[in-house]
Amino acid sequence: MSFLNFDSKVFMAPMAGITDAPMRTVLASCGGGNLISEMAAINAIQRKNPKSWQIANVKNEPYPVVVQLVGNSPDLFADAAKLVADLGAHSIDINMGCPVKKIINNDSGSALMNDLPRAAKIIEATVKATPLKVSVKFRKGWDSEHVNAVEFAKMCEQSGASYITVHGRTRAQGYSGVADWDIIGAVKNAVKIPVIGNGDIDSPQKAEQMLQKYGVDGVMAGRAVLGNPWLLNRIHHYLQTGEIPDEPSTAQIKEMMLKHLRLLVEYYGERGGMAISRKHIGWYVKSLYDAKRFREQYTKLNTLQEAEDLINQYFLRVES
Ligand SMILES: Cc1cc2nc3c(=O)[nH]c(=O)nc-3n(C[C@H](O)[C@H](O)[C@H](O)COP(=O)(O)O)c2cc1C
Repeated sequence: MSFLNFDSKVFMAPMAGITDAPMRTVLASCGGGNLISEMAAINAIQRKNPKSWQIANVKNEPYPVVVQLVGNSPDLFADAAKLVADLGAHSIDINMGCPVKKIINNDSGSALMNDLPRAAKIIEATVKATPLKVSVKFRKGWDSEHVNAVEFAKMCEQSGASYITVHGRTRAQGYSGVADWDIIGAVKNAVKIPVIGNGDIDSPQKAEQMLQKYGVDGVMAGRAVLGNPWLLNRIHHYLQTGEIPDEPSTAQIKEMMLKHLRLLVEYYGERGGMAISRKHIGWYVKSLYDAKRFREQYTKLNTLQEAEDLINQYFLRVES
């Protein structure tokens, strides 16, 4: 069984520039897994900045979408929470883990792990502003000298968070090294609210290992899902039935690439969609035949027609 009103114990990790509406459509078409937005800055939402507004607007999506917010002002968080509730959010996740300099310099993201009183005020203000559930995503700590995930988790619980997600790396580690799952287990033992474990989950077996060994309530996968949107459902299905669905066939990969590409062009227009498609297309083919040459050719293309033609030609070679 899952917790709150989520359909699954498996969560897509929020990823800026990646977990947009087209990506969610792709993920939903593969089944099982809870979906989330990219992070949206609270001040940009309040200004109705078109790009941030588009990120937060999940009204027309036929499945629940958690909207993630980032920022540092409790008042602005409260205002933004009301706006995103009107824009159809299933619930609100607060980003207290982002390691990027631009965010940190604004005292947001993982910088809040160094300022528990402010982090508490932000959570309290957001919880008070909306009937939606509010969750928090954070890291192991700032660096190896400042590992405070357990204390931080208790603060989140006391401040009214409905659940928390812990990424087992410090801010200093960024995305390098191995995620520390023991700290996720320590957090789980310290709080009563549900805990989602995050970091390095790349297979159904690894997800099960984290759930069994550390007793977490859910698992979240990020980088391993890139170019592999089937993974969330493969994990979900395995947890439900004990059976692991097959890896996608080459034909399925091709169809998914074409579908993802068309969705991106529909959503962002041809120019924007083609630009964003480059990274996704690169991820889909990364372990296929002659991927490097294909990627180099793809990067030079500007139209949907050219892209579809190249993908079709490439798969004739892959399949032959
Ligand atoms: C390109 C990229 C963008 C990310 N953007 C966000 C974000 O917007 N919000 C967030 O909370 N985490 C973000 N993350 C962190 C992921 O959600 C996740 O915590 C991290 O990748 C660890 O999980 P993994 O080992 O399964 O990839 C991002 C990570 C990457 C690599």
